[in-house]
Amino acid sequence: MVLSQRVQQLEESATLAVSAKAAAMKKQGIDVVSFGAGEPDFATPERIREACKKALDAGYTKYASPSSGILAAKEAACSKLKRENSLEYKPSQVMITVGGKEALFLACMALLNEGDEVLLPSPYWVSYPEQAKLCGAKVVYVEGCESMSFKLTPEQIADAITPKTKVFIFNSPSNPGGFTYSPEEVKAIAAVVAKHEIITFSDEMYDRLVYGNQRFMSFAAAGPEAYARTLTFNAGSKTYAMTGWRVGYVAGPEPIVKAMAKLQSQTTSGTATFNQHALAEALNGDQSGVEMMRKEFERRAEYMHRRLNAIKGVSCVQPTGAFYAFPNVSRAFATLGVQDSIAFSAKVLEQAHVALVPGVAFGLDSYVRLSFATSMEQIKEGLDRLEKLLGSEG
Ligand SMILES: Cc1ncc(COP(=O)(O)O)c(C=O)c1O
Repeated sequence: MVLSQRVQQLEESATLAVSAKAAAMKKQGIDVVSFGAGEPDFATPERIREACKKALDAGYTKYASPSSGILAAKEAACSKLKRENSLEYKPSQVMITVGGKEALFLACMALLNEGDEVLLPSPYWVSYPEQAKLCGAKVVYVEGCESMSFKLTPEQIADAITPKTKVFIFNSPSNPGGFTYSPEEVKAIAAVVAKHEIITFSDEMYDRLVYGNQRFMSFAAAGPEAYARTLTFNAGSKTYAMTGWRVGYVAGPEPIVKAMAKLQSQTTSGTATFNQHALAEALNGDQSGVEMMRKEFERRAEYMHRRLNAIKGVSCVQPTGAFYAFPNVSRAFATLGVQDSIAFSAKVLEQAHVALVPGVAFGLDSYVRLSFATSMEQIKEGLDRLEKLLGSEG
């Protein structure tokens, strides 16, 4: 049996080995502190769960009609985008998807041809390059600098654009970088991209999770050119702790959204109807739970930043969004006798029973990712163990 070339080219997740090992250790009864989670450690708010139960009892158990999403969910997405992001979309410009991930994949499938270039800032979320490559595109990586909190300058982007650039992927707040572009920075980058026929994928999954005096701006809100050539991606997953529900949405130019809907109708037929009713409630209902969760993440972000910088050989930029810290650990490699982030993470797991995600999975091998979507007690315990293993600064 020969598998397709498409699948053979697909990268195995570099994080898999470490997480499989952590799971095996936990099974043996070893107390592992895991910083691996990419999902909120909160329950989905009750009002959202109730909306789903009500939809089930009301018989919303058939195929969603249309498959691109029920009108109530599309209208809720339009209201959210207007209320929070100053973006005017009609329901015909929106579709409801199987999480943010399906929306991103459908967009790649709808736009990319063999040989097209996708401009991807690193560090990046793991699925972007794989999805682009599945569509035959070439990924052009542009590396962010730690001293700039990994944020790209407009000049770096201008230099990387070629006549073949079809898509620019923009993710703020960032997984794994934990940084957020300011409105001024968004506008400066959008001005560069606007000079070209490039479609921007603005992944705004973490738009509600920003900290300190950081402000968030949607890429499409940067001006009329940005609006005309941006797909805005979001989901219930991170904002409402709905990762397992698989509800996402995307808004943008109608011809692209229509093409994506056609693809969806021939592949998944969209996401579960009753979950779409729950998404409508999530977006329309009382938002106070989001602020509660944001405040707790903010507290953890500050704590983690302070503690990580006190560990010998570790330097970490301040997380201003999402729920990840992305410290540089290359100066601590020698302490553990290793030379890369996979070996470093494996040693930390073996010796301190702390699970980290190697930075190489996100394109930068001098770093590791720690999620703070875990309790303060676990965070404290995990950082105590790391400090004991590597020593403290000064
Ligand atoms: C940056 C980013 N984009 C997209 C996704 C996918 O979200 P979903 O679970 O809604 O498919 C994630 C999830 O980890 C993410 O971190």
